[in-house]
Amino acid sequence: MGKLDIRPLAGSLGAEIHGVDAGDMDEETWRAVHEAYLKYLAIFLPGQKLAPPQFKAWGERFGPLLTHPYLKPLEGHAPLHELYKGPGDKIAFGGEWHADFTFLPQFPQAISLYARIVPPYGGDTLFANRYLAYETLPQSYQQLLEPMEALFTITPYYEGNVQSMRNAMGRQVDGGAVHRVVQTHPETGRKTLLACPAFIRNFIGMTEAESRPLIEYLTKHSTRPEMTARYRWARDTLGIWDNRALYHYAINDYAGMERHMHRLVVER
Ligand code: SIN
Repeated sequence: MGKLDIRPLAGSLGAEIHGVDAGDMDEETWRAVHEAYLKYLAIFLPGQKLAPPQFKAWGERFGPLLTHPYLKPLEGHAPLHELYKGPGDKIAFGGEWHADFTFLPQFPQAISLYARIVPPYGGDTLFANRYLAYETLPQSYQQLLEPMEALFTITPYYEGNVQSMRNAMGRQVDGGAVHRVVQTHPETGRKTLLACPAFIRNFIGMTEAESRPLIEYLTKHSTRPEMTARYRWARDTLGIWDNRALYHYAINDYAGMERHMHRLVVER
């Protein structure tokens, strides 16, 4: 396998990779794909034919797979689970800027989606680069945030999200964790900003009301168009993104249409 055919999506992040069969990669190809994942943060491989066991094998190359605590797995294929929004459904899972499971002490490395059914238009996913969010902050803010920690909990937004899913387990969503606001990516050593609006509650030592203006400023800063990319899915596209370096946001703009994804969560 020679060099990959990589087509960047935007200046800030994201790339499509063509000409790779994700279900049959030799070591050299895998290394190149992994390198592209760390560099572009979100990679998409169109035209893949992946039955559930092959999709899981793809995910396992990145790390162990996490069993979703609130969504039932696809029968016989745990921990693969589904995101399905039908023509009559109102809520799209993930319709807010977030990094997954940051309300847990150890939040996962990556999320992978495999598109089974996509609407003819709409249902794109937005991503925002948290390396850039940190690096483009004024130095005074970097210094202010460096020692700070924040409490991340589930919110009514997430509770509503999981309860609306057809494969919801009906469990009360719990959890809460304190994280550094400036994180160091374990593989690249670069700093990222973590203050995701879907789950952050307050900075430690500050009330929610005192924290709100700073959270609002950091959210606006982190999701400026220059920090983001938008991906339009096609059926059979496989994607994976680095949850340690990105926020993501599933756009809910396909009312009356259908979208169905197979999904994996990769642990650290
Ligand atoms: C999510 O993982 O939050 C959902 C992303 C998507 O469906 O585009």
